[in-house]
Amino acid sequence: MNRIMEEEGYIKRRTAEGHEFEPFSIMKLDMDDVDEMKALESEIMAGLASPDAFSPDEKEDILEDMKNGAMIFGVFVKGRLRAYRYISFPKRTEANYGRDIELKGEELDRVVNFTSTIVHPEYRGNRLQRKTMKHALEQLRGTEYRYLISTVSPINYYSLKNMIRSGFVIKKIKRKYGKIADEIDGKMRYILFRDINDDMVKRYSKTIVVNNTEIDLQKNLIKNGYIGYDVDELDEFGDYKILFGVPKPTDIKSMEAKDA
Ligand SMILES: CC(C)(COP(=O)(O)OP(=O)(O)OC[C@H]1O[C@@H](n2cnc3c(N)ncnc32)[C@H](O)[C@@H]1OP(=O)(O)O)[C@@H](O)C(=O)NCCC(=O)NCCS
Repeated sequence: MNRIMEEEGYIKRRTAEGHEFEPFSIMKLDMDDVDEMKALESEIMAGLASPDAFSPDEKEDILEDMKNGAMIFGVFVKGRLRAYRYISFPKRTEANYGRDIELKGEELDRVVNFTSTIVHPEYRGNRLQRKTMKHALEQLRGTEYRYLISTVSPINYYSLKNMIRSGFVIKKIKRKYGKIADEIDGKMRYILFRDINDDMVKRYSKTIVVNNTEIDLQKNLIKNGYIGYDVDELDEFGDYKILFGVPKPTDIKSMEAKDA
């Protein structure tokens, strides 16, 4: 099958001695690739320190999403899928992450779920999470899609840091992906948000520095109008600090104007 090449170049593969450069290409996956995608996901899941950090995607859901326009950007090295980014357009379905931050009606139609990203451990450090984000954003330019939303575990420092560096902010913290219901048996997740029609750099007041493990404090801050907007370095215990602040009034005004 002829695929459209989105990008090609060289990336580093980690080896016992250091690293080697290898050619890579980024291409959109199609339905025939979903088994390879699931195989990579299983390999990564097996290597995770905590299974709570990542929620696997069901094959049936991926195929259904693809029928509805979902895009998956795959990074191939020597013909093998080594990383991917998966975005979907959930419209008014229950899967729409906009529901977690109280988006309603037509706002839900403009949501893009940034569903998952995976990079094989040998290729981490090539900024592939952000590289594939760039391709996703290019595809959204000039479309009706506006609200980018993602979920990240508070114990998934590297993913959170990459999302915040890509312009997302923490809008909520709650349990997600429960078998019974989100808040009953779900896993703790940040709901990360970016409005691509409002990419102006925000300023925050009343900044408070919070540890990622202080879940109740973060919930309370958010309830009181705070947003998580930056992360510090990872410490020796695997924890890190997050900066929460209240968007400055001028920014709130411009947000309200846009929503009106
Ligand atoms: C999150 C993830 C996609 C980031 O991969 P990436 O794009 O290669 O990360 P970066 O290139 O930004 O890495 C920056 C640095 O952090 C390190 N790093 C990235 N992910 C790491 C991880 N999971 N554990 C330890 N170090 C990691 C990189 O080695 C690099 O270090 P360096 O600067 O010293 O070389 C990857 O860690 C991953 O696949 N994790 C498992 C799946 C997951 O949690 N996905 C996100 C939720 S959907």
